[in-house]
Amino acid sequence: MKIVVLTGAGISAESGVPTFRDADGLWEGHRVEDVATPEAYDAKPSMVQKFYDARRAALAGVEPNPAHVALGRLGEVLGSDLGLVTQNIDDLHERGGSHDVIHMHGELLSALCRACDRRTPWHGELSDFPSCPGCGIPELRPDVVWFGEVPYQMDRIQGMLMRADLFVSIGTSGAVYPAAGFVQLARACGARTLELNLVPSEGSEQFHEARQGPAGELVPAWVDEVLAEL
Ligand code: APR
Repeated sequence: MKIVVLTGAGISAESGVPTFRDADGLWEGHRVEDVATPEAYDAKPSMVQKFYDARRAALAGVEPNPAHVALGRLGEVLGSDLGLVTQNIDDLHERGGSHDVIHMHGELLSALCRACDRRTPWHGELSDFPSCPGCGIPELRPDVVWFGEVPYQMDRIQGMLMRADLFVSIGTSGAVYPAAGFVQLARACGARTLELNLVPSEGSEQFHEARQGPAGELVPAWVDEVLAEL
C-alpha cells in the first residue's frame, strides 16, 4: 500500500513549536507577510535574518512528540511506500526517525545562497551575513520558501499523490496552496483520503474521513491501525 502523508504546523504544536494561524493570527509576534516574503527580506534583511535565527536556535529546545515518532515507525515498515511531505521547516520528523522527508517549504537548518543557489546545512546565525562556503559571497538567506516563491519538489510530490492508495493530512489548516489542493489530486487519482487535525480544517469536507484530536494521540493510533492491517 502506497501512503502519502502531508504534515503541517499542528504536528509540531505539542512539541512546543507555535502554529501560524491559531491564537492571534501572528507568527511569534509577527504578521507572516512582514517576515516571510522576499519583499520583507529586501526591505529589512537584518530583521528577517534575526527572526529566522531565533526560530533556528529554538529548535535546540524542542523534541519530537509521539506523532513524529509514530511516522518514523511507519516509515521503517513501509520504506519507499511511504512518502512524507511536510510544510514544516523544523527538523522534528528527522529526529523522530523519518528519512527522506520532503520539506516543501524548505528547512531552518539550511542556508540558500542568493548568488550561486547553493544550499548549505546551517546551524548557526545568518544575521551576521556570513560568506557562502561555495562562492564566498555574503548572500546567504534562510532556505525557506516564502510567500510568492515556488515550493520545493512539486513534480515529485505530484507523482507520489497520483500513485497513492491513501493520502493523510495531519495538523494543517488547509489555508495555503498548493498543499491545500493535494487532497483533491490524490482523491481524483483514486486514493482514499483521511484528515487528522485538532479541529476540522478549511478543506475538511473534501476528505473521505476526518478525525479530530491532538496529533500526539491520533497519529500513533492511526499508525497502529495501518500496521495491523498490513
Ligand atoms: N494536533 C493536531 N492538529 C493541531 C494541533 C495538535 N496538537 N494543534 C493545532 N493543530 C491544527 C490547527 O487546528 C490548524 O488546523 O494544526 C493546524 C495548523 O495550521 P497553520 O497554523 O495554518 O499551519 P500550516 O497549515 O502548517 O500552515 C501552512 O502556511 O504560513 C505558512 O509556510 C507556512 O507552512 C506554513 C503554511
